[in-house]
Amino acid sequence: MDMNRSETIRVELGGRSYDVIVDEGLLDQIAILAEPFLKSYSARPVPIVADVNAREHHSARIEASLARAGYEAVWYDVPSGEASKSWAGLEELTNWLLALGVTRSDHVFALGGGVVGDLVGFACSILKRGCGFVQLPTTLLSQVDSSVGGKTAINTSAGKNMIGAFHQPSLVLADMDTLATLPDREMRAGYAEVIKYGLLGDRDFFDWLEANVGAVVAREAKPLQHAIATSIRAKARIVAEDERETSGVRALLNLGHTFGHALEAETGFSNRLLHGEAVALGMVLAAKFSARRGDISGQDASRAAIAIGASGLPAQLPDLDLSCNGSRLVDHMRHDKKMEGSGTLPFLLLKGLGEAYMARDVELNDVAAFLDEELA
Ligand code: GLY
Repeated sequence: MDMNRSETIRVELGGRSYDVIVDEGLLDQIAILAEPFLKSYSARPVPIVADVNAREHHSARIEASLARAGYEAVWYDVPSGEASKSWAGLEELTNWLLALGVTRSDHVFALGGGVVGDLVGFACSILKRGCGFVQLPTTLLSQVDSSVGGKTAINTSAGKNMIGAFHQPSLVLADMDTLATLPDREMRAGYAEVIKYGLLGDRDFFDWLEANVGAVVAREAKPLQHAIATSIRAKARIVAEDERETSGVRALLNLGHTFGHALEAETGFSNRLLHGEAVALGMVLAAKFSARRGDISGQDASRAAIAIGASGLPAQLPDLDLSCNGSRLVDHMRHDKKMEGSGTLPFLLLKGLGEAYMARDVELNDVAAFLDEELA
């Protein structure tokens, strides 16, 4: 870790404020960086809940740092994949934490991507009515999105993230070294959430990403750190303004997610389409639909699609080879948890590149007709 290059971003939430640190080599220094959250373990091992692959790649660095400070780790393995975010997974994890004697003043460490972060965060929100946790995100997507902001959840038969809580972590260490072992496809999927911050509210960042996409997805340290830190700064600002997504500000983070959710549902939330890939296509569709309504020019919609596709992400609906029509995709949207009691589904659309807004006047029939055109 080079302290001169470390970026520390504060998520300002009063008494629940916390730091997100972005740099290389953070896990090698975990005992120093997370010292306040380790103190309670002077006579007990530190519980670390880890994605199995993340543990394989990073446990040695963590254990070495803890050992230097006189701590020992005890590990809980979480199989990779959304299936781990289940009632059964939650029960097993909370039983393990209770058996370890974790108290309300302890912190549980979550090492892995969004699945582990969401599961551990939710477990910690209910364990003895709430204990602390530290996020150690190991994917680009979890570093720039899910580890920051306190959304935690499990999936149920009713859908993804249907049961959960807002529970903020006490610290997030976004160690860029963990991205070195991330498959390229996962790296690109995370990039979708990076470019989302440009499209939704930061035109300069969008322009910068257009010019630097190759360097970011190739994991060149400086551009990568700039992309991650800029994304987290944007998320921290939004979360500080609207922690519980009540004023409409945090909802802007859902740009691309309504169209994307329909595509994920149609492909069975499977490896056929990763969440980030669905968001990428969802943002292209949101941009094109915005152009269809006259909110932005066709040229700007094409520019958004080209910028997304330049990273290697899917940027055209026919790439998915779906055998459904627009109405079927709209039916999936009706089950979106953003659907309001009145039957309205708010859509995040664009007024410009770098300016998202929430439209409440979108007719689902128009969306179906638009999707039929895009599928052709
Ligand atoms: N991933 C969207 C949010 O954190 O609000």
